[in-house]
Amino acid sequence: MALKLTVIGTGYLGATHAAAMAELGFEVLGLDIDPAKIETLSAGRVPMYEPGLEDLLRRHVAGLPDSSGRLRFTTSWEEVAAFGDIHFVCVNTPQKHGEYACDMSYVDSAFELLAPHLKQPALVVGKSTVPVGSAARLAARLAELAPAGDRAELAWNPEFLREGFAVEDTLHPDRIVVGVASEHAEKLLREVYATPVGEGTPFVVADYPTAELVKTAANAFLATKISFINAMAEVSEAAGGDVVKLAEAIGHDERIGKKFLRAGIGFGGGCLPKDIRAFMARAGELGADQALTFLREVDSINMRRRAHMVELAREACGGSGFLGKRIAVLGAAFKPDSDDVRDSPALNVAGQIHLQGGQVTVYDPKAMENARRLFPTLGYAASALEAVRGADVVLHLTEWQEFRELDPAELGAVARGRHVIDGRNALVPQGWREAGWTFRAMGRPHA
Ligand code: UDX
Repeated sequence: MALKLTVIGTGYLGATHAAAMAELGFEVLGLDIDPAKIETLSAGRVPMYEPGLEDLLRRHVAGLPDSSGRLRFTTSWEEVAAFGDIHFVCVNTPQKHGEYACDMSYVDSAFELLAPHLKQPALVVGKSTVPVGSAARLAARLAELAPAGDRAELAWNPEFLREGFAVEDTLHPDRIVVGVASEHAEKLLREVYATPVGEGTPFVVADYPTAELVKTAANAFLATKISFINAMAEVSEAAGGDVVKLAEAIGHDERIGKKFLRAGIGFGGGCLPKDIRAFMARAGELGADQALTFLREVDSINMRRRAHMVELAREACGGSGFLGKRIAVLGAAFKPDSDDVRDSPALNVAGQIHLQGGQVTVYDPKAMENARRLFPTLGYAASALEAVRGADVVLHLTEWQEFRELDPAELGAVARGRHVIDGRNALVPQGWREAGWTFRAMGRPHA
């Protein structure tokens, strides 16, 4: 009989995983403790902007026209425990308030609430990003709390999805990594992922700590790559070089590669910043803190980018400060194709300038609502053109396609000053300069 799957926690990761598993042909039951979220998902709506996710969901949510009916949602732990052969735990692990460490309270509480209902053999699969060592602890707790005892088994299966590509990354992942304690667990997970594995996706079997570490190591590497190129941007700027050219040139070396070498205002979002901090905190607990002190530098290079952007904006305003100046900010999301503003470099820069007396007007194609909730005192405009109207300086801070298609001449006609700063190295300087703008970018010559 086909396996029945449940997904616990229906945020970014969980909602996407649930819909993707239904797409692969499984019966899926999703659980969230937030009834409003369950109501939204049950109606086939996704509470965030993620390309393709709503369509995928609608194809499977029971009760919607023409759906497969394989996907349902609930708030009942009892129902989930009775339904599933495999339970995927997809709750989030934010940074602890005032600390670097990861807040495990949602993961812990998911296990505490699920396990007492597990009367039949079941495989619980953690997907959340957790400090190494959590899986071993949770496996013991599971066997202790579940009426099924050690027939309630744990596996760890980290998730590598990128926002903006969540559906693609879940259905066609680069690799599948499973940390297992038995052949039985491996066999079940091979069954779950038979389709992508059949299409050639590598399936890596490891122990618990290795599987947990793969995720944090991958994010630490990506963060390091971005901070490396941003450090090169600092040096290029000091030396009069061009970091975009430099990145292109070193990227031709296959060992280095072209990807993740875009210099600018740095990384943000709900993953990279908090994951590298939690990794440092955990290494400290393990007595291996020296191994990761370089991540402190990666973090501070990254945070320096935001301050540097504010300085460039101040210079463009004439150098004496932001009072009486209008700043248009294009972009609020932490990256394009997402409405996520968690630790967004763009909003951080906008907020700093606002606090220093500048009149900031933000426009983002999708993240306006989330941005307004987080920074209600910033100004917001309904389009890029409206944000730029009357502005002394324009900052390009999230590289949406829409911004690359803007007509510099049209914007120049409504701006008060024609100064644009590209914080993402994604605009073409020539077009702007030809339309009479001064164009600056991070780590590039100032023409
Ligand atoms: C990341 C990892 O890529 C993903 O594998 C993991 O599962 C979760 O964390 P995500 O947070 O969605 O995914 O975004 P990502 O595409 O990695 O970008 C992170 C940040 O880095 C963004 O703010 C982006 O603008 C920035 N970035 C990315 C750069 O500044 N330069 C680059 O070259 C690439």
